[in-house]
Amino acid sequence: MQPEIEHLASRFREELAGVADERALEELRIRYLGRKGALAGLFQDLGKAAAAERPAMGKAIHALEQVVAEGLAARKTALSACAEERLPAGFDPSLPGRRPWRGRRHILSAVLEEIIDIFRGMGFSVAEGPEVETDYYNFQALNFPANHPSRDSQDTFYVDDEVLLRTHTSPVQVRYMETHPAPVRIVAPGRVYRNEAVDASHAAEFFQLEGLYVDAGVTIGDLKTTLRQFAREFFGPRAELRFRPHFFPFTEPSAEADVLCFNCGGEGCRICGGTGWIELLGAGMVHPNVFRAVGYDPERVTGFAFGIGIERMAMQRYGIEDIRLFLENDVRFLSQF
Ligand code: DAH
Repeated sequence: MQPEIEHLASRFREELAGVADERALEELRIRYLGRKGALAGLFQDLGKAAAAERPAMGKAIHALEQVVAEGLAARKTALSACAEERLPAGFDPSLPGRRPWRGRRHILSAVLEEIIDIFRGMGFSVAEGPEVETDYYNFQALNFPANHPSRDSQDTFYVDDEVLLRTHTSPVQVRYMETHPAPVRIVAPGRVYRNEAVDASHAAEFFQLEGLYVDAGVTIGDLKTTLRQFAREFFGPRAELRFRPHFFPFTEPSAEADVLCFNCGGEGCRICGGTGWIELLGAGMVHPNVFRAVGYDPERVTGFAFGIGIERMAMQRYGIEDIRLFLENDVRFLSQF
């Protein structure tokens, strides 16, 4: 008998959900609570049941009666609210509302702005350049000769022989110095492109922040101090940087800077590939040929430059393991930050 009552309860709920107006609701009420309704039938059965079964059965019938009465009342309130407010009959004002979707800054924008703020605090201002560049600004003026093997690591997408998608933000150095006399102290954020085979750590489209400081008497000591200070502000006061010799055509000497792995503190783990260090940026002292290309006198000024990969900074800070996540626009990823 009890399963039958339960079955009746679930059928009632289904029917109640399908009720769209007051007339249908009244029909439903009569079918369950009316004189010849389902509940009345159950009470008749109760009278015929064995004495031992009666208490449990009576309880179950009363519970059903309550479910039905409450369900009908709630639906009635909902329907009359709809009628008053001229809302569609199916509208249930007792359901919780949907919050409006609120946007937020993209994680890359947030990290980029934070990095820019740190450099602003050290006296750098912000400059920008085009993403569609010429071979001259992207390569030649930066001391990459035509057909030089140093171009190999920066294959890109060409519009024609002369016009391409910039592979780095370094051309902004050239454009800025061409139009501004020294001293120069700028950072240049932006999107860059490479013809990469895309995987968890390589994207064909990513962000960099270029830095350039030119004046009389700028030394490699200034470069190291500036980048150390930056690393401490971004990663925390105990962040350590190490500089490794490297080659870039537009700086001499050149270096890559690594930060002590945030995860293992230098012992070697999965995140730093067992080395204890994570590569952060490229840097160096501006090559005299770059100064010559923009009309600066390399005998009178010196300078340092650096290029920071923004995705890499975000990946390290937040433990993100796949660079492709940034531009897939999946809110499940983006809303975590
Ligand atoms: N442009 C380089 C790259 O994309 C990064 C870089 C290295 C920038 C050294 C610099 C620098 O300004 O001095 O790989």
